[in-house]
Amino acid sequence: MQMNELLNRRTFLRTTGLGTAGLLANIGAAPIVAKVRTNNVGDFLEIALQATAFELPLLPGTWTRVWGYKGSVLYGDPASLQTIQGPPRNYPVRLSNRANLQAPPRPARPPYSYLGPIIKARRGQRVRINFTNNLPESTVMHWHGLHVAPEMDAHPSRLVTPGQTYIYEFDIANRAGTYWFHPHPDGSTGRQVYNGLAGLFIVSDEEEAAAGLPAGNYDIPLVIQDRIIDANNQFVYQTGGGQTGGMTGNDGFLGDRILVNGRPDFTLDVARRAYRLRLLNGSNSRVYKLGWDDGTPLTVIGTDGGLLEQTVQRSYVMLAPGERVELWADFSGRESGARMQLRSLQFTGAEMGMGGNQMLPNGAPFTVMNVRVVGRTGEPTSPPTQLSTINRYRMEDAVNRNAPRSFAVSMGGGMMGGGMRWLLNGRPYQEAEVATNEIVRLNTTEVWELINNSTGGMMGMSMVHPIHIHGLQFQVIARQIASQLTAGYETVRYGYVDEGWKDTVMLMPGERIRLLLRFEDFTGMYVYHCHNLEHEDAGMMRNYLVRV
Ligand code: C2O
Ligand code: CU
Ligand code: CU
Repeated sequence: MQMNELLNRRTFLRTTGLGTAGLLANIGAAPIVAKVRTNNVGDFLEIALQATAFELPLLPGTWTRVWGYKGSVLYGDPASLQTIQGPPRNYPVRLSNRANLQAPPRPARPPYSYLGPIIKARRGQRVRINFTNNLPESTVMHWHGLHVAPEMDAHPSRLVTPGQTYIYEFDIANRAGTYWFHPHPDGSTGRQVYNGLAGLFIVSDEEEAAAGLPAGNYDIPLVIQDRIIDANNQFVYQTGGGQTGGMTGNDGFLGDRILVNGRPDFTLDVARRAYRLRLLNGSNSRVYKLGWDDGTPLTVIGTDGGLLEQTVQRSYVMLAPGERVELWADFSGRESGARMQLRSLQFTGAEMGMGGNQMLPNGAPFTVMNVRVVGRTGEPTSPPTQLSTINRYRMEDAVNRNAPRSFAVSMGGGMMGGGMRWLLNGRPYQEAEVATNEIVRLNTTEVWELINNSTGGMMGMSMVHPIHIHGLQFQVIARQIASQLTAGYETVRYGYVDEGWKDTVMLMPGERIRLLLRFEDFTGMYVYHCHNLEHEDAGMMRNYLVRV
C-alpha cells in the first residue's frame, strides 16, 4: 500500500455487530485542538492488535488459561513489535491434557508469556493500532503514560464490545521511556489485567540514543506481578485477597506467587557487563520495595516518564502498581556463576485490612527474581553522567499556586455486604460526571495536592494508594507525613524516586504529595484514579476535564 493512501485513510471503525453509533459519535467529535508535534510523514507504524483467550504452559501439568494481546506489524519496521523477553525454558508440555475440550488447538511453539507484546516506537512517530476485541466481554485500551487525545485512550465510555475493532491513532509525543498498555473497563480492569492483559510501550528518542545506554540484548524489560495459582495451574482472582477474602472485598488482590515477565520462579541470566533493566510493577495491588540481596545499592536511571538527568543511588526503591523504574546494573565485577537475588524487602505502614493475603501480606519480604552471572569477563563501565535534560515546571507558573487543588482519598458506604466504595474527594466514579474542582484549563500549569488522611485506625483505612493521572507526566515537588504515622513511613521513604517525570505516585497513609502538572495539546475528558486496580474498580476513579 502507498504511504499516502495509508495516511489518507480516515480513522474508521469496522464492526461485526451493532452499536457503533456511540463510538462513531466519539470519533466524529474529536476535540483535538492542536497537533502534538510535527510528525514526519514517512515515520509511520501500523499494528494489528487483538485481545484474546489462550493457554500456555506455565507450570508442569495442566496449561494455564489466560487472556493476552497478540499483535502483528501491518506497516513499518517488523522489529517494532517484540515478545516479552526471557530465557526459553524446557516447556513442560503435556499433550494428553484433555480437561478442557473447548480449548483452542495448541501451537507448535507455545507462547512464552501471557504478557506483551512490546510495542517499540520513536518519539514523533505516528502509530495506528487496529485493536480487535476477541474476548467474551467488552474492554478498552489504555496507553499508560502516553500523552494522547482522550478519544484515543481508555475512557470507560469508549468500550469496545466483543468482535469489534477500534482504531487508536496518535503521534508519539512522549520522551523516550518505558510506558505500558492494559485494559480499562470500569469495574473489570482488575480482573482483565489479572487474566494477563498487559504489554509494554517502549519509546525511544535521540536524546536517549546520545546517552549511550546498554541496548539490544542488554536492555531488559522486567514486569513484576503476583498471582494465586491453584492446584490445577489456574489463576485464582479473589478480590478480598488470598486466604480470608470476603469482608473487606475491595482492599485489593495480593497473590503469593511472584511472576516476572509472566513466569514464576524467574531467573535472569546475565553476562559480566552493564545492563539497562526496565522494571514495571504490573501487579493489581502489591507494592514492592526492591533491593539486591547483598545490599548492593540500586543505580536508578529512569522513572515513569523516562530518563532522569543524572543517575541516583538508592539502597532500595519503592515500586507501587503502575510505576516504572529503570536501573543501570553492572555485573562485570561478579564471578562467573555468581548468583544474586532481587528482593522485595520488609516494610510497614501499608498493610491491607482484614481482606489482605495472610500468606504474603503487603510489606512481607520475598524474592522477586534470581540473577545468574554467566560468561566471560566484561569491561567494568560507569553510567553516563548526563542522561537527559528535564524541563522543570516552576511553582510560580502554576495558576493556582496560592490554592492547590486538593484530592483526598477516603472510603465510604457499608462495611458489610457489597456497599463499600473507595472515593476521591468523597465521590465514587461516575462515567459522565465531573465536579467543579475537576475542570482545568488548557495550557495552564497547576499544583495539585494528594491527601491520604489515614487515621491508621479503622479497618482498611490505613492503605497505600498509587495515584495515577491519565494523559500527562507530572513532577513531584513535595511530600509530607502526618507525625503519628512516621514509623511505617521511615521504612519506605528513602525508596521514592521523585527526581524524574511521573504518571503514578505512591501515597502512603498519612502522606500529602504536591505535584506540578501542565495541561497541553488536547481538550476533553480524562480519568485519574488509584492504580490499586481493585480500588479503581470499586469507585476510586474520577474524570477530569481539560477545557479551553
Ligand atoms: Cu495504568 Cu488508568 O491506568
Ligand atoms: Cu494510565
Ligand atoms: Cu487505592
